[in-house]
Amino acid sequence: MEIPQCWQDVALLERAGVTRVILYGPPGMGKTFAAMGSGPAERLICTEDSTTADVTGMWQPAADGGWRWCDGPAIRAWRRGVRLVVDEVDRASGDVLSLLLAMTDSDESARWIHPHTGEVVRPAHGFSVVMTSNMEHPDELPAALRDRFPIAVAVDAPAPAAVNSLRGDLAQVAMGAGRSPSSRRISLRTLRAFDELSRHCGDVESARIIFADRANDFLDALAIGSTETRAS
Ligand SMILES: Nc1ncnc2c1ncn2[C@@H]1O[C@H](COP(=O)(O)OP(=O)(O)OP(=O)(O)O)[C@@H](O)[C@H]1O
Ligand SMILES: [Mg+2]
Repeated sequence: MEIPQCWQDVALLERAGVTRVILYGPPGMGKTFAAMGSGPAERLICTEDSTTADVTGMWQPAADGGWRWCDGPAIRAWRRGVRLVVDEVDRASGDVLSLLLAMTDSDESARWIHPHTGEVVRPAHGFSVVMTSNMEHPDELPAALRDRFPIAVAVDAPAPAAVNSLRGDLAQVAMGAGRSPSSRRISLRTLRAFDELSRHCGDVESARIIFADRANDFLDALAIGSTETRAS
């Protein structure tokens, strides 16, 4: 199977040790999995309800009845010198986006002052950030945040390692067999669900349950996928 360009790029950036990257594109392609990588990482999942406390830390009740400060994932990643994964960054609230400007700034200028101890924290050597998003284009991010991430990869194909674990004809569909150029990729989660369900009730029933009014389109794509599997 030919490795899609976007995944070749992700591998190249990893090898090159690039420390600020955005992975964006449709759901279920493997962005978060790739962002987490194989080494140590801290993860911040952004939602509309996330607050700055979810990024840098908060006071939490301690067993002795008092309060204890707990660093958030961004500060933990700074201290440890590991990767920070900012997942679903486009969902972050204005406050969190503003704070991310400080947390993702170049390592030389980034610093954070502990609100209780006054300790000055800076990113340790090895700190990096990968942000993921379903946005159509990274320029949808606030300009100053986008500027901290000059490199953005449009992940428009499912991760090869995940595709390889699918049934042959499903792998072909994952790679775009039988797909009109305008139609969206089917997510790895959906393909895996189909793979599993079809073992119990066959392709037609599974397609009806999972794809509803798009079942016939999917079965057509699967037929093309199975022709291509035989051909290869
Ligand atoms: N390289 C891989 N090897 C095995 N499984 C993978 C791989 N990449 C992704 N997956 C699996 O595919 C599914 C989708 O991956 P992931 O959550 O990374 O997608 P995503 O692009 O971040 O989606 P979303 O935009 O919805 O957050 C997950 O169940 C994940 O475990
Ligand atoms: Mg994700």
